Amino acid sequence: MGRFDGKRVVLGVTGSISCFKAAQLCSTLVQTGADVDVILTAAAREFLTPLTFQSLTRRPVYTSLYDVLPDLSSAHVALGAQADVLLICPASATTLARLAHGSAEDMLSCTALASKAPLVIAPAMNVNMWEHPATRANVALLRERGAIQVGPVVGHLAEGISAMGRLAPLEDVLAATRLALGRRPAWEGRRVVVTAGGTQEPLDPVRYIGNRSSGKMGYAIAEAARDRGARVSLIAGPTALPHPWGVEVRLAPTAREMLDAVLAACDGADALIMAAAVADYRPAGVAEHKIKKTGVGLELRLVQNPDIVATVHATYGDRLVKVGFAAESQDVLAEAGRKLDAKGLHLICANDVTEPGSGFGTDTNRVTLIGRNGWREDLPVMAKEAVADRILDRVEQLFS
Ligand code: PMT
Repeated sequence: MGRFDGKRVVLGVTGSISCFKAAQLCSTLVQTGADVDVILTAAAREFLTPLTFQSLTRRPVYTSLYDVLPDLSSAHVALGAQADVLLICPASATTLARLAHGSAEDMLSCTALASKAPLVIAPAMNVNMWEHPATRANVALLRERGAIQVGPVVGHLAEGISAMGRLAPLEDVLAATRLALGRRPAWEGRRVVVTAGGTQEPLDPVRYIGNRSSGKMGYAIAEAARDRGARVSLIAGPTALPHPWGVEVRLAPTAREMLDAVLAACDGADALIMAAAVADYRPAGVAEHKIKKTGVGLELRLVQNPDIVATVHATYGDRLVKVGFAAESQDVLAEAGRKLDAKGLHLICANDVTEPGSGFGTDTNRVTLIGRNGWREDLPVMAKEAVADRILDRVEQLFS
């Protein structure tokens, strides 16, 4: 099961040297379940041939305004009508100008004009072309009309310099495409705060007390909320995961730093989802220098950390939906129910971390969702992305 299963993507490829990356993008879309129809502009055909994309998609590739589908309907009307999303990657300055001004002079611009599908643009070009007021105005107009823009970014350009104009990383282009496909009215204008990863409580300049949270569960929730159209603040302990596109990330290494960041972010937010594994205790003091080995044992004194979600409840009450996790190794459901009440949560995800494929570091998780008034849903072992979706389905119900 891929993330684009059954989705019809029209991929427009235009004449930028970065268009060679569109072949990889196309292949990933196909491998993750999308039906991809590719349109190549005349300039793109100077760099790549239709055969490349035909081989990747096993479907016809469209190059002329007068192309027809196998049933002889006009491709420039039919493709746009069938599309779930129109993704233009890379989007050259010329194509952006055509789109902004409704000029339907080639197959791609005509399809865009004839389509009501959401539009994603991934511009890539020379830095001066990107910074030209004409290009800026065209992009601003397209965004105003609802287009999702991803990139460009600063990086190596074909001219041999490092500057703005490089195509966004393909993971970001895919993330923007998921947002175009996933937006839902219930999440429009919503602000969601998500925590992820484990906190690290310093002992001395080189050591800390931590836990095995990888951040995967929280990051999956943040990305799923972004895909639904929410504005997402992700507050994370140290993790090795890349920052997800379209999500505001703030790093908070310790429980107390996480508390400050979460309290500030929750002001005016619609939901808080606490997937982070926050240390309940921290060393009573932090040694200024590395603690030396002395040949005898070492006793540590720990003091309790503040409870973040309970503090949010005390500060904001039920003005926002509060979701917690309970990572447990015994009495899982009873402990989760106790934490739901004690921390003022609307929903808790009881997480038996002793089950195979569940809990810390895995790509899958098994949780039981427990709500107020005894509401409960047992979920099987699922990909963390799918668990995130089920949690957000419940949060969506709680919004209304
Ligand atoms: O990051 P991964 O590798 O993907 O692993 C995911 C996970 C196992 C970390 C995640 O699914 C999970 O279960 N997170 C919660 C872990 C945890 O700390 O549970 P807890 O039972 O100790 O805490 C209960 C709730 O209170 C949690 O929502 C926690 O974020 C919150 N809490 C805990 C302590 C504290 N001082 N402040 C808090 O707000």
